[in-house]
Amino acid sequence: MERLRTVNSKALYEETKEYVTDGVGSYFHRAKYQDYPICMIRGKGSKLYDVDGNEYIDYVAGFGPMLLGYCPEEVDRAVTEQLKFGTHFSAPTRTLGALGKRLTEIIPSAEQVVFQNSGTEAVMYALRLARAYTGRYKIIKFEGQYHGWSDEEKITITANSVEELGDREHPNKIIHSKGQRLSSADDLIVLPWNDLEILEKTLQEQGDEIAAVITEPIMCDSGPILPLPYYLEGLRELTTQYGALLIFDEVITGFRTALGGAQQYYGVTPDLSTFAKAVGSGYPISVVAGKKEILGCGIHAAGTFNANPLCVAAALATMDALSKPGVYEHLDHLGKLLCDGFRVLAEKYNLKIYTRHIGGIFILYFGFDHDVHDFREWLEVADVAFYERFVQEMEAYGVRLTDERGREYLSVAHTEEDISRTLKVADFVLGKLT
Ligand SMILES: Cc1ncc(COP(=O)(O)O)c(C=O)c1O
Repeated sequence: MERLRTVNSKALYEETKEYVTDGVGSYFHRAKYQDYPICMIRGKGSKLYDVDGNEYIDYVAGFGPMLLGYCPEEVDRAVTEQLKFGTHFSAPTRTLGALGKRLTEIIPSAEQVVFQNSGTEAVMYALRLARAYTGRYKIIKFEGQYHGWSDEEKITITANSVEELGDREHPNKIIHSKGQRLSSADDLIVLPWNDLEILEKTLQEQGDEIAAVITEPIMCDSGPILPLPYYLEGLRELTTQYGALLIFDEVITGFRTALGGAQQYYGVTPDLSTFAKAVGSGYPISVVAGKKEILGCGIHAAGTFNANPLCVAAALATMDALSKPGVYEHLDHLGKLLCDGFRVLAEKYNLKIYTRHIGGIFILYFGFDHDVHDFREWLEVADVAFYERFVQEMEAYGVRLTDERGREYLSVAHTEEDISRTLKVADFVLGKLT
């Protein structure tokens, strides 16, 4: 196998850096260990093509949105049609209600929806709604979970060690950026995930001050880590008992684990949930879904670009495409092929490799091969250095994986041939690294 040459990416990045801070559109577009990011020119189906003419089988999916693959025909058609009429009116359109209706049919907990542009905004809005509705101010969130990058959301999203997280029953509230107000975390309570005992104790002590518990139903941003049996049901019961709202952050799991998200997959219905990434196949649109009574409690959603007709057209076409028969069976089949393939490689190279798949999420990590239950346990067992070297080498041979957390995104456009090529490259790379 030949290592790809990426000299044009390097040159373009150097030039861009002169004019664009950090040379990237988002901080996450360059991995910490990369000297320069690979600059892309086009995508089609499951593939991306860089400025040096290299082809990549892609499992990054634009950090999740490209569940239909790149340039999905149905979405391109709908967007091109809308372009003829205008992209942005700051007024309701016929399609606005149509998308709202569609989403309420698809998302189990959605009696109504509110639109925003990104996951960060959707979560900010959900938290404000929860506070307004309950008249309480504290929010419980979990260690290692990322809900966006606003001052309040970016608390204890990661840690370098278990010690940094502090006492398990009263974890540290870690502020990650300079410039974030120290008071951002004042109304947050951070707890370890998958632990109903600690949650119940906290609710017993402070329940009448707690507006909501926010969680990813599958902890995708660290790990990923799956919920223990009955954990999500337990969250549902305890929040109801103490009068706090349950918010599922489905920015990643939404439309990916099942059409109706993880709430459909696990059969647990939150009060509010947030969706972004895959809603619009790469067009920026996000959703807060929930009970009418909560969404209508008098907190109004502002935003110049909210639900502009271009993004609404993309989202409607995305929902149509995802509703076709066989979509989730296909994703499931490919996920299983990847899991089986990596299991064989684990034996061949005598490595501990953790693989799981749910819908369009494929989980891959090194250093352990059993389920871990929270971020602390993950920090103890995960071989981050090996994973990063693996990802770096895979990219050098034409397979793009996510850089840190072992959360790989399958799309409807991936094929069995992509999987078989991915496993061949993985075999070669593991041979080199071990
Ligand atoms: C679970 C979760 N919530 C919220 C966000 C923030 O979404 P966005 O990047 O669209 O602001 C992300 C982004 O990765 C996420 O993974």
